[in-house]
Amino acid sequence: SPGALVDRFGRVHRDLRISLTDRCSLRCTYCMPEEGVEWLAKDNILTTDELARVAEVAASLGITEVRLTGGEPLLRRDVVDVVARMAAIEGPEGPLEVSMTTNALALPKLARPLRDAGLARVNISIDTLRRERFADLTRRDRLDDTLAGIEAAREVGFAPLKFNAVAMRGVNDDEVVDLVRFAVERDAEMRFIEQMPLDAGHIWSRVEMVRGEEILDALRAAFTLEPVGDRGASPAEIFRVDGGPATVGVIASVTAPFCGACDRVRLTADGQIRNCLFAREESDLLPLLRGDAGDDDIADLLRRSIAGKLPGHGIDEPGFLQPQRPMSAIGG
Ligand code: GTP
Ligand code: 5AD
Ligand code: SF4
Repeated sequence: SPGALVDRFGRVHRDLRISLTDRCSLRCTYCMPEEGVEWLAKDNILTTDELARVAEVAASLGITEVRLTGGEPLLRRDVVDVVARMAAIEGPEGPLEVSMTTNALALPKLARPLRDAGLARVNISIDTLRRERFADLTRRDRLDDTLAGIEAAREVGFAPLKFNAVAMRGVNDDEVVDLVRFAVERDAEMRFIEQMPLDAGHIWSRVEMVRGEEILDALRAAFTLEPVGDRGASPAEIFRVDGGPATVGVIASVTAPFCGACDRVRLTADGQIRNCLFAREESDLLPLLRGDAGDDDIADLLRRSIAGKLPGHGIDEPGFLQPQRPMSAIGG
């Protein structure tokens, strides 16, 4: 359709990732510094009505999926209401699919109400199964809470269930086989992620980074892996484990970027449209949402943002600069 979110490279945008808050209950080293970051100003955080309005306009422009992220999305007080509002939005092809990426700490309490509100599925971050490592890596001794959250997600039937681990040298790279077994036992898909230069502490190093190929080598020593066909716009390359049905994914955003198939646009908790995880510029929706602008103006800003989208993240290009905004305020 003429109104659709198509960029200069023909990429059609269907996936809106909405950050509900920049706050988090953990302090993962690859994401946030120990002391936290300067939080977004409360007054600038979009209300649930404002979020729903943007999602409705986006749905009219061809967005079919909404992914709720953070910080930690479950820290938002009205998260169940946000899910209910999003799940009620109808696009031209039917209701929005609403999913979430979470650290799972609050799922024992919230999994049931979220499921009832229409949340389709969750991706859960779990980087290690060892208590001390978990405490070092997230700077909080809460592995048991994450594990309880995973059980809660299973009980209410979120499916497919996916687990995310950022691979880190000397930190959890010896656990990839254990993590796959853990996921397989829980009917979940384990995904390993190349660390990207997005941490507020600027600890990322190209040389240190565990490459997707290394992860695959480690996995092949324990399992047979067969590639599963067409990944579409998914960042993960998927493999069947030991003949299936279990699968494992590798998200090699640095060494094998999926930017060419990217269908994502982001909305930050403070109302900025970001056309890429690594965007250098944002488009400010706040004045439109809080002034007397119409839905057409919101649609225009979304289209203009997409029109300015670059072909890729540019991590390998000279002069690459890490985004100003920390990962916790972008949403992953
Ligand atoms: P599904 O496959 O639909 O379940 O979602 P997903 O894998 O896209 O979502 P999730 O939030 O679980 O993201 C998994 C990892 O992919 C995270 O570590 C993100 O940092 C990374 N990722 C997500 N979106 C992007 C993106 O637009 N660009 C890049 N380079 N990486 C991304
Ligand atoms: N590089 C890659 N992935 C990251 N995530 C957070 N920070 C980084 C980073 N620097 C992942 C988390 C979570 C998702 C939201 O983003 O592990 O699964
Ligand atoms: Fe929180 Fe997720 Fe960042 Fe960890 S990666 S500090 S869980 S937002």
